Amino acid sequence: MGLLDGKVAVVTGGANGIGRGVSLELAAEGASVVVNDYGVSVDGRAPSSEPANAVVKEIESNGGRAVASPENIATMAGGESVVQTALDKFGDLHLVVCCAGILRERMIFNMSEEEWDAVIAVHLKGHFTVWRPASRYMREKRRGCLIGFTSTAGLEGSAGQPNYSAAKEGIVGLMRSTALAMAKYGVRANVISPEAMTRMTERLPDTRRGQVAAPPEGPAPVIAFLGSDRASHITGQVVHVRGNQVSVWSNPTPLRTVYREERWTAEKLADIWDNQLGQDRMRRLDRLGIQWPPTPQA
Ligand SMILES: NC(=O)c1ccc[n+]([C@@H]2O[C@H](COP(=O)([O-])OP(=O)(O)OC[C@H]3O[C@@H](n4cnc5c(N)ncnc54)[C@H](O)[C@@H]3O)[C@@H](O)[C@H]2O)c1
Repeated sequence: MGLLDGKVAVVTGGANGIGRGVSLELAAEGASVVVNDYGVSVDGRAPSSEPANAVVKEIESNGGRAVASPENIATMAGGESVVQTALDKFGDLHLVVCCAGILRERMIFNMSEEEWDAVIAVHLKGHFTVWRPASRYMREKRRGCLIGFTSTAGLEGSAGQPNYSAAKEGIVGLMRSTALAMAKYGVRANVISPEAMTRMTERLPDTRRGQVAAPPEGPAPVIAFLGSDRASHITGQVVHVRGNQVSVWSNPTPLRTVYREERWTAEKLADIWDNQLGQDRMRRLDRLGIQWPPTPQA
């Protein structure tokens, strides 16, 4: 008996790294799995259907049920086709997990439009393309679970990844909107913020790569749980997973507020800001040893 017996799941980017671990885990817990993967390099080039086929073979040889989908989920047609594959092959859909991702690192002042668009398309739009048809189906069925993938690069910022950081924080906004919109239909939405050693993290600078000593299979059981009926009360959450460490992050809330009867002037704000509002210091400034405020130039 598995926690997902009788359920049908879609995993985008399900043939490599974290997504591969998720595909195998969901199948081992009893789900029939659509393993979607465009089979591209980390920067999104040279598509191949081989990786998705290989994971399907692996699931089948373990006695599970799976079908490969080599679609590009950066397009509306691709996203719709992944959902349709679940309905055509397995006759239902309960769980969608969006692990597909690429990287095109560049500082904001050097980034090209193409680098920006490519990353936003796979990550942020790549959630919408699958969640829209999935949410339509789940709304009718009055049940279902959507799981997105964010990153501390979005939640905390990452200097060399403006496109990726924006997409990953955008996915949190999409998740919150979807969790609110779908609550009355009994459909849930959550996001995972993983840290795991994959080909993606091989590209991190040495100073950050050392922090990620966790296997790619780490997030898989968390996702199997969240996708199961045992988690039918959990929605709107950001869940961070590194190896065996699982954390629930806070939802943003005001820290301090000021109010006065008369309209504020810039000068009045300048007078009270530091004492009454202050700042919420970015955790990564200190962790990365970034000097702020900057030392005055000699
Ligand atoms: N590895 C980490 O520590 C880490 C940290 C934060 C967030 N993430 C996120 O976790 C997810 C999985 O990352 P990973 O490290 O396993 O990366 P990975 O490169 O090992 O796997 C990503 C998979 O997505 C597939 N893919 C890319 N573009 C696609 C498209 N258009 N359509 C369908 N499939 C596509 C690739 O072929 C690949 O198999 C990503 O969303 C990533 O941003 C990873």
